[in-house]
Amino acid sequence: MVWPVTTERDGSGQLIIGGVPVSHLADEYGTPLYVYDEATLRQRADAYRQAFERHYPRARVVYAGKAYLATWLLPLLDEAGLWLDVVSGGELYLAVRGGFPAERIVFHGNNKTPEELALALELGVGEVVIDNHYEIELLAQLTAERQVALDVLLRVNPGVDAHTHEYRKTGIVDSKFGLLIQSGDAARAVERIRAVPGLRLRGYHAHIGSQIAETEPFATTINVLFAFAAEMRDRFGIVPDQISPGGGWAIPYESDDPDAAIEPYAAAVAGSALQAAERWGFDPPVLTVEPGRSIVGPAGVAVYRVGAIKDIPGVRRYVCVDGGMADNIRPPLYGARYTAALANRDGAGSDHAVVTIAGKYCESGDVLIRDVELPTVEPGDLLALPAAGAYCLAMASNYNLALRPAVVAVADGRARLVQRRERYEDLLAREVVVVPNQTGE
Ligand code: LLP
Repeated sequence: MVWPVTTERDGSGQLIIGGVPVSHLADEYGTPLYVYDEATLRQRADAYRQAFERHYPRARVVYAGKAYLATWLLPLLDEAGLWLDVVSGGELYLAVRGGFPAERIVFHGNNKTPEELALALELGVGEVVIDNHYEIELLAQLTAERQVALDVLLRVNPGVDAHTHEYRKTGIVDSKFGLLIQSGDAARAVERIRAVPGLRLRGYHAHIGSQIAETEPFATTINVLFAFAAEMRDRFGIVPDQISPGGGWAIPYESDDPDAAIEPYAAAVAGSALQAAERWGFDPPVLTVEPGRSIVGPAGVAVYRVGAIKDIPGVRRYVCVDGGMADNIRPPLYGARYTAALANRDGAGSDHAVVTIAGKYCESGDVLIRDVELPTVEPGDLLALPAAGAYCLAMASNYNLALRPAVVAVADGRARLVQRRERYEDLLAREVVVVPNQTGE
């Protein structure tokens, strides 16, 4: 299901999300607009926690904030009992300022700076996932200076090739993430961490990539993690109390994509962990998963207004919208595919045509959807793109000095503006040179 769970059409053919007509939202808040359906968010967060609780004695679901992070989301994650994965000082700052309990924050990243690590210690994050040798030395120094102890996981590179876009693979040998098991690098890190008084090694982590729609690479990763844990037990006597195969479960973007349900994923991952624990002679440790996309992705819909329409006879029809690669870089960057629907009417009875939805930015590659079948579209119509909740706003830019979109959360027939649209004056906020106020704006 690519649309939020509350999506429907009313009697006049209008698209409704969370009980609110999309056209009302567009009129009130402008476009491009990102609409999040709270029911879908809660359902997916709960589904993750419940499925893992059902299948595993000690599971932890950590939402990966890089998919989309905003303060309004934090209470919802907190209420669902999730932890939070942050990958930068910025994400950490926002989460703590937004009231998320620091002790349930996990700090990730392949090149955390000394300042970021100091901030993590100051704010009291629950865990840091160590990625490299440099970080061990930084943390050794920081914990010694502060006389504190820190729970850490070690991120290993399991050498697992998941079927996803090259840019999204993170667990192959040639990767900047984690320390390779097969070269002995990961074992050297374990040995060093043991010797640092301020570091408590809780276990091992791996993340093999994103938008992975099959469970087998996760099973392989889990087995590799346990095999490594067994080796570390035999060499150093360390018994891990946590194992994490990371995040990466897929979502459908188009109607014929695999549905990537949460339940079978949880059953497979939990089953693999129980099996591997038994095989390698461990009591089941805490099993941590880090879904980002599969929690927020299906809850978000991008809404654009159609402007110029261009026919190139015998080639294609370009339908240009008022957003594009500045709010969603995924199609040009990964060749990501989306679908779209008319939102202000259903176009019933109209002819259908295959068109290309282009953005408004100065790049030929700024195309949101190449070849999508739609009813005849006119300037002023609204187009809705589903499955836009993850890695769109999170990767949004001010390219061409675009204003980043407003975000509304909808539930039970009500809409809340949760992030306002950027304004022209926001574009001046970081300018150091005094700008004369000539426009009077
Ligand atoms: N844990 C770690 C350590 C990660 O690096 C990531 C994602 C996740 C969890 C969450 O993965 P998810 O469940 O969302 O797949 N910008 C790309 C995706 C990059 C993913 C980066 N790491 C895209 O738009 O497809």
